[in-house]
Amino acid sequence: MTTRPSDAPWADGPFALIPTPSQRLKDNLSYVHVASEMSHVHNTLIRGLNAILQQAPHVPDASTPATYNPKDVTDLLFYVRCWCEMVNHHHGVEEAFIFPEFEKFAGQPGLMEDPRHQHSLFHDGMERLLAYAKATKPDEYRWISQGGNGMKDIIDSFSKALTDHLYAEIEVLLGLGHLDSAGLRETWDKAEKIAQANGNLGLLVSLAIALLCDHERSC
Ligand SMILES: [Fe+2]
Repeated sequence: MTTRPSDAPWADGPFALIPTPSQRLKDNLSYVHVASEMSHVHNTLIRGLNAILQQAPHVPDASTPATYNPKDVTDLLFYVRCWCEMVNHHHGVEEAFIFPEFEKFAGQPGLMEDPRHQHSLFHDGMERLLAYAKATKPDEYRWISQGGNGMKDIIDSFSKALTDHLYAEIEVLLGLGHLDSAGLRETWDKAEKIAQANGNLGLLVSLAIALLCDHERSC
């Protein structure tokens, strides 16, 4: 679903990337810019999730001692932890700054209520995954567990709600075409600045993962 054929199709699944809105909408208005910028961010998050789902099954755990390497599991869990922190930071910034700024500018309280509600649908699953990635010892790590407590089980419990949200929010932003274009751009730039000023160390840690996940973004 990228706007150009991917040269790494194995990295673009199982969850499809979001086509960049500016590739098909040529009216040069701010709602297209905002939706396109957001689609880049969301594709970074989707790529990170795809990477976990693609790579983790090939990292042997302690149940296969012949191929198990604790360092590989430690690295995998660190990657998952960074990805969780990146996702949480993005949604925290939206709720604290971006959504309120949009609602204030539009004069429509509740304008961003759908995406705000969608955040709550995967919040607990994300927190469970983050806790698992932080606390699990390499020897205890399992991708699939008979008791349903493996890392795959945790991810499967919320990945559809998360990706449904990442797709749906772009449609909400594409619905802002009725707002004054210059004002919307100003609001977006202001919200971005506030968000940047409220970055944290977790975001810095996430930078490396973002660079890895974003290198193929469709522009
Ligand atoms: Fe978003």
